[in-house]
Amino acid sequence: MKKILETERLYFREFTIEDAQLLIDLNSNPNVVRYTGDGAVKNLEEAKRILTDIIFPQYLNKMGRWAVHLKHTDEFIGWCGLKYIADANEIDLGYRFFEKYWCKGFATEAAKAIMDHGINTLKLKNIIALAAKENTASINVLKKLGMTYLGDDMCKHDPAEMYIFKQDSNY
Ligand SMILES: CC(C)(COP(=O)(O)OP(=O)(O)OC[C@H]1O[C@@H](n2cnc3c(N)ncnc32)[C@H](O)[C@@H]1OP(=O)(O)O)[C@@H](O)C(=O)NCCC(=O)NCCS
Repeated sequence: MKKILETERLYFREFTIEDAQLLIDLNSNPNVVRYTGDGAVKNLEEAKRILTDIIFPQYLNKMGRWAVHLKHTDEFIGWCGLKYIADANEIDLGYRFFEKYWCKGFATEAAKAIMDHGINTLKLKNIIALAAKENTASINVLKKLGMTYLGDDMCKHDPAEMYIFKQDSNY
């Protein structure tokens, strides 16, 4: 297992091809993918393609969506991490957790650690995040991280808000 970092309650590791079923399970709840712009992962073949074509290449840049586990039980609760978006030349913060783990502060705890890793270890200058306007939980997380509202955008078909964290802000 390639562990990336840990927080008080969580640890992060790189996904492997054996995790394909976890991606299917996570996206199988319509509430989880309601504002994410993707949807259910149809089968193991599609999950493996997401891993090999989208997730693993990010690890070569020392970034990526990392599997998040509870320290005290080792349970997989979702993912959180950074992704380089070539079209925009931006680094995007993202997170997604199983519904039973919502509202326990895990997204905030995970995203704070990832932001800290991005700014202080990877020496990134800016990190952006996009959340659908109706996704109040996600927008709350971004605000709690101290990110700044940058403007409105679209998240696939949903009106969305763009947030930014700059290295010189008080984080
Ligand atoms: C967005 C998501 C990651 C938040 O995870 P979480 O672990 O519940 O987040 P936290 O507990 O750290 O913080 C969420 C905050 O929003 C609040 N919140 C949660 N659901 C809410 C809702 N429906 N309406 C208003 N506020 C809400 C919580 O009370 C909390 O605020 P608080 O700390 O002031 O009490 C989680 O809901 C999720 O995985 N959603 C599906 C995937 C997704 O939408 N990802 C983001 C795409 S931009």
